[in-house]
Amino acid sequence: MLSRGRRLRHNQLIRDLNRETRISAKSLIFPLFVEHGTGMSNPLETMPGQSRYTVDKLGPVVNSLLEAGVNKFILFGVPEHKDLEGSDAWSDQGIIQQAMRRIRQEFGHEVYLIGDVCMCEYTSHGHCGILDGEYIDNDKTLEYLGRIAVAQAEAGADMVGPSGMMDGQVAAIRRALDERDFLEVGIMSYAVKYASGFYGPFREAVDSAPSFGDRRSYQMDMHNKREALREAKQDEAEGADILIVKPALSYLDIISAVKANTLLPVCAYNVSGEYSMIEAAAAKGYIEKERVIDEVAVSCFRAGAQMLISYHAAEIATAIRAGRIG
Ligand code: PBG
Repeated sequence: MLSRGRRLRHNQLIRDLNRETRISAKSLIFPLFVEHGTGMSNPLETMPGQSRYTVDKLGPVVNSLLEAGVNKFILFGVPEHKDLEGSDAWSDQGIIQQAMRRIRQEFGHEVYLIGDVCMCEYTSHGHCGILDGEYIDNDKTLEYLGRIAVAQAEAGADMVGPSGMMDGQVAAIRRALDERDFLEVGIMSYAVKYASGFYGPFREAVDSAPSFGDRRSYQMDMHNKREALREAKQDEAEGADILIVKPALSYLDIISAVKANTLLPVCAYNVSGEYSMIEAAAAKGYIEKERVIDEVAVSCFRAGAQMLISYHAAEIATAIRAGRIG
């Protein structure tokens, strides 16, 4: 036998040497849910282990992530009032804007802050844009997305993440930011976002389920891969700095394909349903939680992601530090 694969798996040292996928806590982004009020951290029923925090409670959470080695955050807001124009998303006193300012004040540039730019948490109907009857008016929505991005930039965002799957959203946001001289604020575009059942726990958590219909007129059809490449290409042409593929696990092939077809960094979003399935199965004793979290994280990077948004970011960072992965 000339070739014996087991030689490269003989002991931990050679296995470490032979690793093809290297992961660092520096590649991780943790999602933070913020809500109005004071003194509250409300555990999310659909996402065991995660909570919604009021602005004054963010400090300790950010601190605990920093201690684990995670210093990048993507912020999601839960407004007090929802309306047709999603005004909390772009108001100066909007929840994300308040949270950005507070975190920046407390942690300066020790942390990297990304704002989710979408309207579904903020609109009374729960759709990701401005309505025209029962249809989402794409071009009218673009104006608002620009406004949201500028409000977040004014509050100190390093980067904005448009997640509404409106056509032309990256170009509209780039133009709005540049007009206000926010040349350094980047765009991490949810370029390839599928209409997915895996967002269920998130929608419960932030109360953003659409009040009628679904998101299939703007989010992608799970059967399509070539379309994902077109979406990626389009966002690249519009000036995106990073492309997100979402969800992650049922779409690892998409991550690989996008990676092979762009020179931009690719980010995977390991979404709420993927998180909660692990938590639920682990709570039942069906799986070993740590091992499965490790495997999921590694698979996203192995598929081609260069960075990962994960609710398990702290656990992944801990696994890296412990030498189990990375
Ligand atoms: C907002 C948005 C969603 C998620 C991220 N940004 C929800 C949706 O599209 O319904 C999902 C995140 C997750 O499930 O973890 N548009």
